Amino acid sequence: MHIHILGSAAGGGFPQWNCNCANCAGFRNGRLNAKARTQSSIAVSDDGESWVLCNASPDIRAQLQAFAPMQPGRALRDTGIAAIVLMDSQIDHTTGLLSLREGCPHEVWCTDMVHEDLNTGFPIFPMLKHWNGGLRWNPIVSGEAFTISACPNLRFTPFALRSAAPPYSPHRHDPHPGDNIGLVIEDTRTGGKLFYAPGLGEVDEALLARMHEADCLLVDGTLWHDDEMQRRGVGTRTGRQMGHLAQSGPGGMLEVLDQFPNARKILTHINNTNPILDEDSAERAELALRHVEVAFDGMSIDL
Ligand code: MLT
Ligand code: MN
Ligand code: ZN
Repeated sequence: MHIHILGSAAGGGFPQWNCNCANCAGFRNGRLNAKARTQSSIAVSDDGESWVLCNASPDIRAQLQAFAPMQPGRALRDTGIAAIVLMDSQIDHTTGLLSLREGCPHEVWCTDMVHEDLNTGFPIFPMLKHWNGGLRWNPIVSGEAFTISACPNLRFTPFALRSAAPPYSPHRHDPHPGDNIGLVIEDTRTGGKLFYAPGLGEVDEALLARMHEADCLLVDGTLWHDDEMQRRGVGTRTGRQMGHLAQSGPGGMLEVLDQFPNARKILTHINNTNPILDEDSAERAELALRHVEVAFDGMSIDL
């Protein structure tokens, strides 16, 4: 299976347009050794021609332009996007659907909770009906594996995660299973397994068991410190409140990942405040010691 990281930043991207935190300002003035990153999305494929988009980022137009295989050019109007799977209904993972309107109808796979948000608080399903039928909903249920006909050798197993629904969700303050999911994607030919969870707030035993099976863990890299938004002076909400497990500290993502010495471990969905964006930082050196990689736009992984 081919996995292509289209975007590796959290909501806002890096640098964020209105942000002058040390990272964003440092990037602009050239003093920071860091790469710009677009908002969180990956594409997976079993043949390199038909792709399943996991999350549709607001940066999708630039992401597609930067990755030639997603424009196979088989017809006058064409795309390599065969289907779209949504992990949640957050802006950074769904607004790209608006930019894909010229290619409707699209097959969209998401939970009933995400579908509800996208029919109410952010009504993109009814809106896009006006474009050639819009989005066709394929319901996904936690624990029930599914396949997508365009990529018949890939088996997707969704599972509910403890994270957070977006501010416009009718159940923002009443979390439901299915607000956020992760995926295990298995190539049934090679047996290669990817564990993908760009928004992961809490890890429990069931999740650890799924992680144990995977060859590659591509997980939430939003924040280094739980109180990083406060430390940087750009906000008050903690990682826990936003549904993102921070990397540092007891019980943090690095301790979780230490339990998987044989898997390839990669952080993605990195917030612009995170010190790991600075390739010369002590935090980045610590990741290297622990054999944890930092996803970047254009990274590709074969499993
Ligand atoms: C999140 O995952 O919490 C989002 O990136 C927030 C956002 O897009 O504003
Ligand atoms: Mn996000
Ligand atoms: Zn910033």
